[in-house]
Amino acid sequence: MADVAVVTGAGSGIGRAIATKLVEDYIVILVDINPKGLAEVEAELSSAGHKVFSLLGDVSLRETHKRARVLAEEKGTLVSWVNCAGITRGAPLHDFPNDPTLMDEIIAINQVGTFWGCTEAVASYVTGKVKGAVVNISSVHGRRAWRDHAVYEMTKGAVDALTRNVAVTYGPYGIRANAVAPGAILTPALKEYFVKIGPKHREALELLTPLKRLADPSEIAEVVSFLLSSKASYVSGQSLAVEGGWTSALGAGDLDPDLAKKYGLKSENGLPL
Ligand SMILES: NC(=O)c1ccc[n+]([C@@H]2O[C@H](COP(=O)([O-])OP(=O)(O)OC[C@H]3O[C@@H](n4cnc5c(N)ncnc54)[C@H](O)[C@@H]3O)[C@@H](O)[C@H]2O)c1
Repeated sequence: MADVAVVTGAGSGIGRAIATKLVEDYIVILVDINPKGLAEVEAELSSAGHKVFSLLGDVSLRETHKRARVLAEEKGTLVSWVNCAGITRGAPLHDFPNDPTLMDEIIAINQVGTFWGCTEAVASYVTGKVKGAVVNISSVHGRRAWRDHAVYEMTKGAVDALTRNVAVTYGPYGIRANAVAPGAILTPALKEYFVKIGPKHREALELLTPLKRLADPSEIAEVVSFLLSSKASYVSGQSLAVEGGWTSALGAGDLDPDLAKKYGLKSENGLPL
């Protein structure tokens, strides 16, 4: 029986890149709510000779994950599950609009969606006696704060906590669970954010990141593929930041030469500006 992987949010950005990487080793079940994105990715991968199957559905519904599991088990042995579908929208807490798209929907997709994905993955692994793996896509926002992103950050902190629980509870079955916490990754979602908030924002993110650039989604996909593979056979319960060193910094402000110059600050570390 062929190995099968489920990838949610496979119709765009990081999920698409993960699916594109995983087809090298698995039959991939592509899950997304966007029929256009899903069709595009399926066409691209299947025309390249890979085995992929699309499942249109909303990850906030338990039913979607049940259907994904059934489809995966039909096609082979489900061994890997990636919960990637997610959204972000910000608003200030002191003036928070009474708008479900700013809170309920984000929690339903990022947090509840990941939860139902994990339940179906581990149920399948335990029932089939499969030493499977789960990777949940978290964020640097799960461990650090950014103005007006409280709801998103709650959900990503929850994803990290859920990942630890899966690792601890199902470790005795040989099941592993890890999270990947991306930094600034150049996906359609981030590009849209730059259009909304202004192009200078991209420059600022590049300056704040020690590697001085945003990442390509394929750089996340490589790490996800590794964590799912037997090469990571003793890695479980971790949330691995893949962010160009961003969360290692105390903040770039007065030490980063570019920012110091931009804001007329004096460098405190003695390096020439
Ligand atoms: N891009 C970044 O810089 C970045 C950084 C950290 C974390 N992340 C996380 O990575 C993941 C992917 O983000 P992206 O930047 O690739 O975004 P994206 O918008 O390019 O892709 C997200 C995909 O999820 C799908 N999706 C949204 N709601 C869904 C639902 N209810 N059911 C099923 N599918 C749904 C969308 O249709 C889309 O195809 C998210 O969890 C996001 O929080 C992204």
